[in-house]
Amino acid sequence: MSGAERSHPWWYDAVVYQVYVRSFADAMPAPGDGIGDLPGITSRLPYLRELGVDALWITPFYTSPQKDHGYDVADYTDVDPLFGTLDDIDRLLETAHGLGLRVIVDLVPNHTSDQHAWFRAALAAAPGSKERARYIFRPGRGKDGAEPPNNWDSIFGGPAWTRVPDGEWYLHLFDTSQPDLDWRNPEVGDMFEGVLRFWLDRGVDGFRVDVAHGLYKEASLRDQVRPKKAKKSAESMVERVLNDEPMWDQPEVHDVYRRWREVLDSYPGDRMAVAEAWTQTAASMAMFIRPDELHQAFNFGWLGTPWSAEAFAEVVNDSIAAVAAAASAPTWVLSNHDVERHPTRYGGGPVGLARGRAATLAMLALPGSAYLYQGEELGLEQVDVPPEARQDPSWFRTGKPGRDGCRVPLPWSGDAPPYGFGGPAGTQPWIPQPADWAPLTVAAQDADPDSTLAFYKRALTARREVFAGADEETVAHVDGDVLVVRRAGVSVVLNAGTYPAALPEGEVLISSGPLPGGVLPPDTAAWIR
Ligand code: NOJ
Repeated sequence: MSGAERSHPWWYDAVVYQVYVRSFADAMPAPGDGIGDLPGITSRLPYLRELGVDALWITPFYTSPQKDHGYDVADYTDVDPLFGTLDDIDRLLETAHGLGLRVIVDLVPNHTSDQHAWFRAALAAAPGSKERARYIFRPGRGKDGAEPPNNWDSIFGGPAWTRVPDGEWYLHLFDTSQPDLDWRNPEVGDMFEGVLRFWLDRGVDGFRVDVAHGLYKEASLRDQVRPKKAKKSAESMVERVLNDEPMWDQPEVHDVYRRWREVLDSYPGDRMAVAEAWTQTAASMAMFIRPDELHQAFNFGWLGTPWSAEAFAEVVNDSIAAVAAAASAPTWVLSNHDVERHPTRYGGGPVGLARGRAATLAMLALPGSAYLYQGEELGLEQVDVPPEARQDPSWFRTGKPGRDGCRVPLPWSGDAPPYGFGGPAGTQPWIPQPADWAPLTVAAQDADPDSTLAFYKRALTARREVFAGADEETVAHVDGDVLVVRRAGVSVVLNAGTYPAALPEGEVLISSGPLPGGVLPPDTAAWIR
């Protein structure tokens, strides 16, 4: 099928660019306060248009004490003054739509902030009250109830329960400041339907659903049988083990998404939702995208794949097979604001960057939609943020570096911090930028046809030209150390080995690096027709 004949909704094969609001661009109050904001994003929308993405996903900008940088929401229907106003989001939406860009916003339904009116009321009310029933409060175990109600751990380290002065405990799968809602209470579902409608009425094109697999916990709240260690099985290159997870991926959660799908479908314009669901298998991920549920789910299998042609091929084939039954399309992602940036994961330095570009080129050839994380188009690596500048709640709970290193504000121009990010000249933004980032700025890379930015622009243009509307079956296989994907009459090859490999016959449409002597060097990918 040619691009002109395509019948899929926009999100089906969209390239979506993730904007981490604090770290994208800072415009207010002029000249900026070192923290990115909505007017900053609006000012840089032409950059995203020129880069060639179809949509942006903006991380939470709602009223929040910022304990987890917005994933702790105190008011779901207002903008935090740190990031602007409701007028600013209206202007952002209008400008994006004027440029042909769709906008996805983040929705955080698993937990609120401890500053949300509901949680404040819950703390002020007595055990057993209707205010407490919106969250998961329980008596403790052991003598005087001094032990937590079960053995669950917080994702950010330490126990998942905190005790309040009257002796009850409340559940928080993340930070203490992020109490989990009780989705078995109908008030919670009604509240979120209102939130969905609020943002849909304002014109957003979709939602990224935070912790989408977490809303329901097994009703018994029983102890977890502790996780086993992941092992490679004989048949699989990918580490797999199925853990006992009474806190995740419960069957009741799917009723929530059936309700949301009806709401989304009642609006014009192909409104959509993408699930952040760290499920244990591709098959359970696919349950979230059944035809009457959400439209997409992030495919974290691709992100977690080791540098191996066999592992890549396995994930490609498994992911495509898993979503086929759901009549949706796969998604692909290499980086986001929660994981180490992929050039660093792939070894860092020139090798890490070459691999990162190769994995990106392979990803952009795959069917379905691709999610890019801000700064990957500049080849940014994970930054070793000095301990005194770290802000991730997991750092405070575990003493481990956490996620700040992938959240460093973007370098736009100039020779020194803040590199055009915004804020007074000569000052550092909320996480300090490295002193050696001058060659990585957008301005520097725009001037260099061999830059990673220039490569991303070429790759996104080539994707539209070569694969728009391609509906043929896609199959991945391995030839020696080379991943080979056949799609739309094109061979996509990625050399994950240590020796040069033969290039297939045909016209080279694009490559992730030089192809000296007509061979495919290690850590390089190409599209051949
Ligand atoms: C997933 C988000 O991506 C992450 O940044 C956040 O800390 C947790 N969910 C909790 O909301």
